[in-house]
Amino acid sequence: MIAREALARDLASARERTLRLVEIDDAELMRQYDPLMSPLVWDLAHIGWQEEMWLLRGNDARRPGLLSTEVERLYDAFAHSRASRVDLPLLPPADARAFCDTVRAKALDALDVLPAEDGTGVDPAFVFGLVVSHENQHDETMLQALSIRTGPPVLDRGAPLPPGRAGVAGTSVSVPGGPVVLGVTAADEPLSLDNERDAHVVDVPSFRIGRVPVTNGEWREFIDDGGYRESQWWSEAGWAHRCEGDLMAPKFWSAGGTRRRFGHVEDVPADEPVQHVSYFEAEAYAAWAGARLPTEMEWEKACAWDPATGSRRRFPWGASEPTAALVNLGGVALRPAPVGAYPAGASAYGAEQMLGDVWEWTTSALRPWPGFTSMLYEQYSQPFFEGAGAGDYKVLRGGAWSVAASILRPSFRNWDHPIRRQIFSGLRLAWDA
Ligand code: AVJ
Ligand code: FE
Repeated sequence: MIAREALARDLASARERTLRLVEIDDAELMRQYDPLMSPLVWDLAHIGWQEEMWLLRGNDARRPGLLSTEVERLYDAFAHSRASRVDLPLLPPADARAFCDTVRAKALDALDVLPAEDGTGVDPAFVFGLVVSHENQHDETMLQALSIRTGPPVLDRGAPLPPGRAGVAGTSVSVPGGPVVLGVTAADEPLSLDNERDAHVVDVPSFRIGRVPVTNGEWREFIDDGGYRESQWWSEAGWAHRCEGDLMAPKFWSAGGTRRRFGHVEDVPADEPVQHVSYFEAEAYAAWAGARLPTEMEWEKACAWDPATGSRRRFPWGASEPTAALVNLGGVALRPAPVGAYPAGASAYGAEQMLGDVWEWTTSALRPWPGFTSMLYEQYSQPFFEGAGAGDYKVLRGGAWSVAASILRPSFRNWDHPIRRQIFSGLRLAWDA
């Protein structure tokens, strides 16, 4: 059983974060910064609507809610594409805020009387955890929107980060072959989402993996060596993607060696993990570097397995909760930390910055773990599994600086189309042993 106080704290910090991100003019909140992203006011009301559905209406749309049927349908992510949401008669920001406030007050009342279990087999605490995860995931989506937005910045340059360490970029660690437990159980991680379950044994052959993610400085060498001009490094689909967008550098980089970050123009820091690269770019970089991308099985092993005890660690560094000395999470830095910034956060194999900083592309398509059963929010994972018809996705691991610590675990799986680069995505190299 997850403590009520912990859930209340995580709900409050998610909301604080959401409200900070929508502290902008109404006109800005209603605007579409890019067809890839929703107007921020959509995310805001969608957060409240899902919270109402899951916590107050038992995910049953026939049970009455606070909004009319027509209005609530505007916030169904499956009913309206992101590109089209700006044209919907969305609730104005004040109404969206008021709706979210009312739902939250009722949700906190429900939390006060949270039973240990409700007889349906669903841990009631899990639903609160899902709400916390969902809101924080949308906060990250809003950060993507704010990062793609042009015009004078509305966010500052972000909170300070620890310095990096020289000599770690480009190095790797060895992960000997052998069976490991991937995924987690509901008993060990009660707030894990459906696609992280169940724990199962997989034999992962020996490999090497980057000690740290690939840096901007290393990516610059790829550019300077003609990496974007030579089809030999790219897959067929990747080269088509590169040509269609006339890609020459990560998104937000200028030809003159600067980048635009939340509207601030600055020199590209050489020792920071590269971000805003697509899967196809990551794959080409890896080929150029004489390496490959890891599978998500390799990634999770390097992150969480402890060969000395033959068991999983809760976090790469052990059982202690994430802190600012161990990992860059929480969305306040507004950028990745330089490589080598978190030696104390290393995994059992010595891999650093596995959590936080940048999402890391893996070669894996999103597939259910054996025995998968969908959670209350059935459409969270299942429609995106390979073969389900929603298109191609690649799994990203480890979370980025933009992710809330309260929702991230080594087993957490994210996914996106291999062409996406507005996300906070980077890479870590791998090699066959
Ligand atoms: C897990 C990040 C791919 O944003 O599409 C939010 C999360 N699902 N609301 C997404 C999600 C429904 C999802 N990702
Ligand atoms: Fe959502």
